[in-house]
Amino acid sequence: MSIASNKYVIGNWKMQARHDHGLKLAREVTENLEQAPPPPFIKTVICPPYTQLSEIHKNLAHHESPSCPALGAQDCYPAPSGPFTGDISAKMLVDLGVTYVILGHSERRQNHGETDAAIRQKVKAATAAGLIPIVCIGEHLAERNEGRAASVLARQIEGSLTRGFRGIVAYEPVWAIGSGITPSREELQRKLNVIHALLPMRLMVDDFRVPVLYGGSVTAAQTSSLFSIKGLDGVLVGSASLEAKSFLDIIRAATESLSSSPS
Ligand code: PGA
Repeated sequence: MSIASNKYVIGNWKMQARHDHGLKLAREVTENLEQAPPPPFIKTVICPPYTQLSEIHKNLAHHESPSCPALGAQDCYPAPSGPFTGDISAKMLVDLGVTYVILGHSERRQNHGETDAAIRQKVKAATAAGLIPIVCIGEHLAERNEGRAASVLARQIEGSLTRGFRGIVAYEPVWAIGSGITPSREELQRKLNVIHALLPMRLMVDDFRVPVLYGGSVTAAQTSSLFSIKGLDGVLVGSASLEAKSFLDIIRAATESLSSSPS
């Protein structure tokens, strides 16, 4: 599967949609995308909580439309199976129709003490199971203000990506997540340049280009401006993915922006 030439709009629902809300949200998003499909190079993905994956997958399967959103999970365990109470393996996600998995989100790094090394093990497991890993990286506010963002990004890329990585990287400055604050275009462009310059050290000697997304307080209002930034391949959306209208507005804004100035 070629993932390098696509643009992405990915919704991370976190632990925020109860069962009925999640099913309704997935249905509304799917029905709207079927009625007005985005161009095929725009990939939409929704990442509900584990408990909703199976039923949402069954509902999506009824649609059989290429414009249906793909299904992503928010984490997986590195081992394929075993006595790991409360954990879910990458293969179990594949059984449920999942094709993407978010790994190393800053909320997991912070709340579950996930290290770069642990995230790299998850990347290996996800890739072995056939999932596309979406690995989150990003600096804290103090690291940014002390001018250490580039070294943090280098450490996270070196530590959490596998050699020959075939997945997606999401740059999510921790200070932008859920804060309503986003980096300026200039700052984001600088960080993307740093990331694109660092990525080849984790790649094989081929020309695979890792898609790099931005995440942190994304709304429809900034989407066109974001998609016009060089080296940005999509957005990872938290709060604004919890309502069909705001998520669809982001997909529409991305479509308009990319159709008017294809990169
Ligand atoms: P936010 O979350 O859009 O609510 O800031 C983004 C994320 O954490 O992936």
